[in-house]
Amino acid sequence: MLGICKDRSLAGEGTRRIEWADSAMPVLAGIRGEWSASKPLDGLRVAACLHVTTETANLMRTLKEGGARVALAASNPLSTQDSVAAALNEAYGVETYAVRGEDTEAYYNHINKVLDLNPHIVLDDGADLTNVLHTQRRDLIANILGGAEETTTGVNRLTAMGKAGDLAFPVVAVNDAATKHLFDNRYGTGQSTIDGILRATNVLLAGAVFVVAGYGWCGRGIAMRARGMGSRVVVTEIDPVRALEAVMDGYEVMPISEAAKVADVLVTATGGLHVVGENHLGLFKDGAILANSGHFDVEIDMGALQKACVEEKQIRDLLCEYTLSNGRRIRVLAEGRLVNLAAAEGHPASVMDMSFANQALVAQWLAQRPPLKPGVYPVPTHIDHDVARRKLFTLGISIDSLSEEQKSYAEGYLRGT
Ligand code: NAI
Repeated sequence: MLGICKDRSLAGEGTRRIEWADSAMPVLAGIRGEWSASKPLDGLRVAACLHVTTETANLMRTLKEGGARVALAASNPLSTQDSVAAALNEAYGVETYAVRGEDTEAYYNHINKVLDLNPHIVLDDGADLTNVLHTQRRDLIANILGGAEETTTGVNRLTAMGKAGDLAFPVVAVNDAATKHLFDNRYGTGQSTIDGILRATNVLLAGAVFVVAGYGWCGRGIAMRARGMGSRVVVTEIDPVRALEAVMDGYEVMPISEAAKVADVLVTATGGLHVVGENHLGLFKDGAILANSGHFDVEIDMGALQKACVEEKQIRDLLCEYTLSNGRRIRVLAEGRLVNLAAAEGHPASVMDMSFANQALVAQWLAQRPPLKPGVYPVPTHIDHDVARRKLFTLGISIDSLSEEQKSYAEGYLRGT
């Protein structure tokens, strides 16, 4: 029996949940319908390392319908939905290797299992699979047509690999498509981060001081939604333009060393290292809640917190309390891992509809075009626009187009005052 999951008897529940998500993913379902006839991925093998959620399951179904053989591993040890992994293995015939809470050894074991497929196309979220390919499985690289990367941190890692001359195949930065980060990172992370915090704590956000570290696409969304819940939102940044944008959007902006003193809830969403570091720990008020929505669990220095505390206590599912020597308690959600996926269900399906439509269409593009040189490539504009058009269509919204006269005005320079 192929695949590894926690409990195959959860397949029925997983199937119901996958179908529910599918009902909010009409763009992807439309592509799946087209592909059931055209089979653009016929004969190809696709290895994916993505969060094992209901939405990802629908992407896997789509790739399979397109003719590909597909295998999936988790891109985070705590984001796996066990019922989804069971359904993929049992009901949908997609080899899936993922168990919620798996340790680091199992995590990489599962990535290696997926790579045993000897893939032509790789889909990654955070670049761990791509990294394993380059460090441990180089024999497989010759066969790879290309990859697609789902998130900001992954694109940053791949760009660094490319700059160092170490990237051995082309990868498309799906994260950077407008129809991905403008919606998924902002509205998806915004809503689901609040959802994760509420499910895990049930705290009242109205009136709370809610600090958002990083005012990028995710941070903007989190700040917007926290304000909508009635929180007093504070932003920390290192980029002067983004900091100014936060000021003009109406938020208080200050350094993290000041923000830590006033935070009731603090969420990191930077993609950076130790945003909440050793020096900040003693500054927090008693009972401050910390969470991370950035890709890796490095934004809150958990090692420093564990060293600094005199007591560590699990007080609710996914909520651990650390008592410091000054007597104050810091509460950390989901071990500092992606709170929206660990404590909630990740982004709503209707926003992942666009992100995964990009993934599917990019896989088709890689399969059908002449080989590309190694490097990080943008999603072709025609794909980005295609996804937006399809989404608008499913929403029943039509838009205008330029007349010939308007087009020539827009493209010309002679007409002025
Ligand atoms: P972005 O690049 O748009 O924004 C990051 C922001 O953080 C930038 O404005 C940067 O100046 C700021 N920053 C960096 N270091 C900082 C520090 N020490 N203190 C304060 N600000 C700092 O990136 P985006 O798209 O917002 O992604 C952020 C992270 O979230 C990435 O790790 C990304 O992979 C992850 N992500 C998570 C999702 C989720 O479901 N939780 C979904 C999409 C992305």
